[in-house]
Amino acid sequence: MEEIKKTVAITEAMLLAGLRVSRAGLTEAQIAGQVQAVAISGGGNLSFPTILTTHGEILHNHYRNHILSAGKMVLLDCGAETALHYAGDLTRIFPVDATFSPLQKDVYNIVLNALQTSATALLPGKLFKDVHLLAAEKLTEGLIALGLMKGDATEAVAAGAHTLFFQCGFCHMMGLDVHDMENLGEQYVGYTPEMKKSSAFGLKSLRLGKALEKGFVVTVEPGLYFIPELMDIWAAEKKLTQFINYNQLASFRNFGGIRIEDNYLITPTGNELLNTILPKKVAEIEAIRNEALR
Ligand code: GLY
Ligand code: MN
Ligand code: MN
Repeated sequence: MEEIKKTVAITEAMLLAGLRVSRAGLTEAQIAGQVQAVAISGGGNLSFPTILTTHGEILHNHYRNHILSAGKMVLLDCGAETALHYAGDLTRIFPVDATFSPLQKDVYNIVLNALQTSATALLPGKLFKDVHLLAAEKLTEGLIALGLMKGDATEAVAAGAHTLFFQCGFCHMMGLDVHDMENLGEQYVGYTPEMKKSSAFGLKSLRLGKALEKGFVVTVEPGLYFIPELMDIWAAEKKLTQFINYNQLASFRNFGGIRIEDNYLITPTGNELLNTILPKKVAEIEAIRNEALR
């Protein structure tokens, strides 16, 4: 845990560097280079190739040749590893400008609410699949309030309607690898002989579904991803029209994606947030961006 706390602290410094050096006119690669330098200066290296992109809707996007421009957001998902190879993995998203647009802020707060609500459910004995579904429900409630979805949030999640916007899982183990023991196979790491990994769209990408135990180190990373190609396919198929307002999606075609990711230790009675200084409220993110652009 000492090593993990050390690497999470370096990872926080990487994100703060990204928040401070980003500005319109620079390429994503120019910022990623400065972010990665922090990991190397910390005495170790990267726990995975840095995701630094103005196209957050593309998961694990390693293309970095876009130029930052006003109105866009930068999604930064990165991690350091210590010399002993323990990994960190945090995500923040921030505006290229000093402030988010009103719509960006609304969507950001939906994701933040999903993270904060699901974090309170990180307890020993709790099935992680249920925490994932709780996050999905909170995201869905937010999208209903925003007018993109409709109907009952629990029913929409049961039908998988949220996966138009939240296609992936939202958690994984973290330790000596960023997706710890990934090469053993997710069935063995994240599930049990009695609990098979689902093959349903959305749940098939959930790396961790089994009950939490004290001593587990996990990441939680809810997000909303507006993928034009996927929206077009679902709209053409008239998929789950009882839950999705397809006529409201036009203004989201160039929106991108939003993810927020934190790292937790499961304790005997609950959890401990391992990233202790990196802010995530809109006002705090905007304050750093204001300072950076002054
Ligand atoms: N950076 C990879 C992940 O968040 O799982
Ligand atoms: Mn992660
Ligand atoms: Mn990540």
